[in-house]
Amino acid sequence: MSQDEHPLQSTTITESNVPLLEGLTTTRAIRRYRDEPIPEAHLRDMLFAATRAPSGSNRQPFRFIVLTDSANAHKAKSLIAGSAQEIWAQKEQNDGYSKGSGADPNSPKSRMANTMRSYVDNFATVPALILPCLVRYRAADPMEGASVYPAVQNLLLAARALGYGGVITGFHRPVEKELKSLLGIPEDIFIASTVTLGKPQGNHGPVRRRPIRELVFADAWEHSPAWAVDPPGTRFTSAGPPKNKT
Ligand SMILES: Cc1cc2nc3c(=O)[nH]c(=O)nc-3n(C[C@H](O)[C@H](O)[C@H](O)COP(=O)(O)O)c2cc1C
Repeated sequence: MSQDEHPLQSTTITESNVPLLEGLTTTRAIRRYRDEPIPEAHLRDMLFAATRAPSGSNRQPFRFIVLTDSANAHKAKSLIAGSAQEIWAQKEQNDGYSKGSGADPNSPKSRMANTMRSYVDNFATVPALILPCLVRYRAADPMEGASVYPAVQNLLLAARALGYGGVITGFHRPVEKELKSLLGIPEDIFIASTVTLGKPQGNHGPVRRRPIRELVFADAWEHSPAWAVDPPGTRFTSAGPPKNKT
């Protein structure tokens, strides 16, 4: 089939019914997926949105490897699944997820641990695994991520708009060398993250963060402006993993 005859060629991006600001404030990290493949038209729309992101000088140094059902995809998913399981086992122990309130199966800590365990245990069968990569044109620099992570967030927001969900992880890092060899990724390319995508088993909804006054300053460091007020009904959470490790 020629390019012109491809069935996806003439279709336009699917319309979303999620208003932009609602999407921005209700896109959760989704780690449980329904066992359904993502149609190519939806992958295309999500990746189209991702690749419209800004980058320094509009160099567009981001590249995305999309892995769904090929032999390479299954191998890459299994490779990262093994790494994810090891990383989570370590973190679960170090951060005391089963101690303190974690002993109560209904506590947020325990529910988080269950979600993570199920995520890493099922990682090899996620509907889609995306590897956002950065083509470096100069030495590694702390600002370089700003030319790839906006594209990653666009991807997650487009996924949200189309009824999907996903999460950014760093689970590829211990197996980066093997992944590069498997997928033919040149040595000097930076694999910026691992993103999994699928139809959520649960729901998106308002995310919990710290109050805006703790995060937004005006005119000087830690000077919170009077207008830094969260909308009524906002729910908060503190930063980071569980504080009570015992
Ligand atoms: C840079 C970065 C690294 C992350 N690494 C992981 C990870 O390795 N594993 C994981 O399950 N989630 C990872 N996450 C997802 C965060 O845990 C998640 O975005 C955060 O807890 C907020 O979740 P929420 O939007 O559902 O509230 C990462 C997110 C970012 C931005």
